[in-house]
Amino acid sequence: MPEHPTDPADLVAHALKAYGGDIAIAFSGAEDVVVIEYAKQSGLPFRVFTLDTGRLHAETYRYIDTVGRHYGIAIEVLFPDATAVEALVRAKGLFSFRTDGHQECCGIRKVAPLKRHLSTLRAWITGQRQDQGATRAALPLMQTDPAFRGKDGGELTKFNPLANQTSEQVWLTIRALDLPFNELHARGFVSIGCEPCTRPTLPNQHEREGRWWWEDAAGKECGLHKA
Ligand code: ADX
Ligand code: SF4
Repeated sequence: MPEHPTDPADLVAHALKAYGGDIAIAFSGAEDVVVIEYAKQSGLPFRVFTLDTGRLHAETYRYIDTVGRHYGIAIEVLFPDATAVEALVRAKGLFSFRTDGHQECCGIRKVAPLKRHLSTLRAWITGQRQDQGATRAALPLMQTDPAFRGKDGGELTKFNPLANQTSEQVWLTIRALDLPFNELHARGFVSIGCEPCTRPTLPNQHEREGRWWWEDAAGKECGLHKA
């Protein structure tokens, strides 16, 4: 990989400068808001998208709207293919992930729309961090996306500017800069995904224990990210 800054804000600016309109920030509606903050601080134009699975918390929808207003940006909200969602729900019901695992539902509601969007870009920026769990322990700041292709089937660059930051550092930034945050964080939620697949964590539980808690820790990736 070519030389790049390691400071999160500098890396976001570097990425935006390098890819212009062909890069976008993937915003989950949680503490990854700091990536948007760094993009704003860069003074460069930037794009943000979010994957609306149809199963997010009401609080997360409100928060996405708040963040859009706070930064004066139109967040691109991506939806899953209606026919595919209808077929899944008709065949297996609204909670198939409890018995069949989350991969099929995530595949339709998150991964397919992401793949479609990434195929229009040359790079993307995520809010993933190494401290989010074993599957992310070796996460680099910048990588060639091992799972998805970009525009015209070409290589896709993936930036993870928060890779080396701890949850504590990210939250210090949110509080120091008085950034808006998802109301669910004030109610014990740490990692936030879809409503039926996310729950608050107890003191000293790892944040990922609040996601797909009925499954083994090793499988807690939904297909958006591969190491
Ligand atoms: S997940 O793969 O387990 O769902 P996680 O919640 O840890 O991901 O979020 C890591 C990063 O993935 C986020 O900072 C964001 O860049 C991206 N991401 C996760 N969920 C979404 C979403 N619904 N929309 C857009 N990006 C997302
Ligand atoms: Fe479906 Fe749960 Fe995955 Fe959301 S997190 S797409 S509801 S399995």
